[in-house]
Amino acid sequence: MCGITGYIGYRDAYPIIINGLKRLEYRGYDSAGVMLFDGTQINLSKTKGKVSVLEEKVNNEISNKGVIGIGHTRWATHGVPNDVNSHPHISQSGNLVIVHNGIIENYNTLKQELKTRGYTFKSDTDTEVLINLIEEIKTEHNVKLGKAVQIALNQVVGAYAIAVFDKTNPDEIVVARLGSPIAIGVGKDLKEFFIASDASPFIEYTKDAIYLEDEEMAIICQGKEVKVRKIKDDTLVDTDVQELQMNLEQIEKGGYEHFMLKEIYEQPRAIIDTYRGRLLREKGIIKMSGVEDNMGKFLNAERIVIVACGTSWHAALVAEYLFEDFARIPVEVEYASEFRYRNPVLTEKDIVIAISQSGETADTLAAIKLAKERGAFVFGVCNVVGSSIARETHAGAYTHAGPEIGVASTKAFTTQITVLSLMALRLARAKGTMSSSKYRHYLQELELIPQKVESLLKVDDHIKEIAKKYMLSNNCLYLGRGYNFPVALEGALKLKEISYIHAEGYPAAEMKHGPIALIDDRMPVIVIATSKGHYDKVVSNIQEIKSRSGKIIAVVTEGDTIVREIADHVIEVPETEEAFTPLLTTIPLQLLSYHIAVMRNCNVDQPRNLAKSVTVE
Ligand code: M6R
Repeated sequence: MCGITGYIGYRDAYPIIINGLKRLEYRGYDSAGVMLFDGTQINLSKTKGKVSVLEEKVNNEISNKGVIGIGHTRWATHGVPNDVNSHPHISQSGNLVIVHNGIIENYNTLKQELKTRGYTFKSDTDTEVLINLIEEIKTEHNVKLGKAVQIALNQVVGAYAIAVFDKTNPDEIVVARLGSPIAIGVGKDLKEFFIASDASPFIEYTKDAIYLEDEEMAIICQGKEVKVRKIKDDTLVDTDVQELQMNLEQIEKGGYEHFMLKEIYEQPRAIIDTYRGRLLREKGIIKMSGVEDNMGKFLNAERIVIVACGTSWHAALVAEYLFEDFARIPVEVEYASEFRYRNPVLTEKDIVIAISQSGETADTLAAIKLAKERGAFVFGVCNVVGSSIARETHAGAYTHAGPEIGVASTKAFTTQITVLSLMALRLARAKGTMSSSKYRHYLQELELIPQKVESLLKVDDHIKEIAKKYMLSNNCLYLGRGYNFPVALEGALKLKEISYIHAEGYPAAEMKHGPIALIDDRMPVIVIATSKGHYDKVVSNIQEIKSRSGKIIAVVTEGDTIVREIADHVIEVPETEEAFTPLLTTIPLQLLSYHIAVMRNCNVDQPRNLAKSVTVE
């Protein structure tokens, strides 16, 4: 989980690479580096820290001239983040340079072999081993870079997206992928090419992109068509040049202080984009081709198993309530990382749904592969079009949230719940577990959610005031029941990941089985107490907190009077069906975390130790 960029063409490569790295920083930001070839020599600079630190270093250290180059922003796996372990890595001869996203699992064996042949290593990384392996093969077999890369990758176990440059043949860059994404932007008349982990670094230059599939490689050379080959046996693959749908505006902050805030505010639009063309209220139907085409499988499924990680796992928990409640299909929700390693019982009658914003999460991908091996039908819910998970699954439905850049997921969560609500409703209708009048009512309610989210965003200043009071807290408890239990988990995750305050989410009724011991007058407790979801029971839980002097921030339905009497603060959300309340109650929790993190001077969009897509296990 790192970001890689590259350029070969007629423009100055440096600004393209450096701006590209800034856009890819969501993938990792503990160190960064760049290599430029000025026609004669390699200029390389790398450093611990963010791309802005690299920029300063480049200004002071090296020439930034050249029309060919590669760059990297890192999330450390092998070796601590420091200057030496940063990418690019250079081979022993100084001729070959590589940037790499992924992990070479057998690097130690390869390293020992290379040491016996006289190679020495400066860094602790698997990547430096790979570039020297390529060099050794190139010399030993007397072949060009492309062939050497191919032979080397056939000896490697692990995952990679790589871009490799050879000073002795400086007109090309070799790229390859297995398990980590790589996109090639194709410039007008083949005069220039862009390389990146996703298309965001080159969106203003070209709309034509080639996405390598796993086990594919390409040699990129100015003026020549890109030929994609299988790494294993060198066979040529049909090259599919896709037209990008993304635009520049979508990946910029658009006047907001942080991407996270922009993405919170984008939710009304993102939810509409997600149900557009699917929720046809006037006709009283839901159309989802991925579901329609596989309706037989869904109707015969004995069980749905949902695999996901992090926020997507919380959306999966909401889906458990939705599918069971609406369509009466038994659901199990699994952490992808646990599922893949515990020999799960799966049959051809199971449907596995994989949820992922990025579509690149390694654990979720591995869980999908396992489910497929066991014969299950796998359905993906992803945001990133063409991502690995979207390609690996048998069928799926995209959320149309648009690029999510802030590391903390916001609009991904609400759009995932939107897709899952549509699916649950569609299946309920097909199975006859919901009456047509109730179905129509739910369609109407779901259609109204974006405008309710919009109205909720207007209470941001009130939430900011609450944030001021609790910004110095050390701990925080989030409680919710039923559909809002996953929201409590999600609220706690948001707070801890961006403000570094310890927070825990619990089903409200579980409080008395342990967490109640934590409550004193310094403990803020955020309770979701909407009018329809076991309201009276949650009110009792609030009383229990109050009698132990806990500070209560309650998220209630508009017009609530009972909780208002007891709680220290209330945040009102518009009324809706209980099943859709997570789409509303999650918004104030996102804003609360955001404001607390800003007030604590935390790096909201790039919290410490995290990365946007976790492509390592
Ligand atoms: O891209 P994915 O949805 O598969 O990512 C899963 C998690 O890594 C992600 O949700 C993570 O927990 C976020 N930082 C949460 O805000």
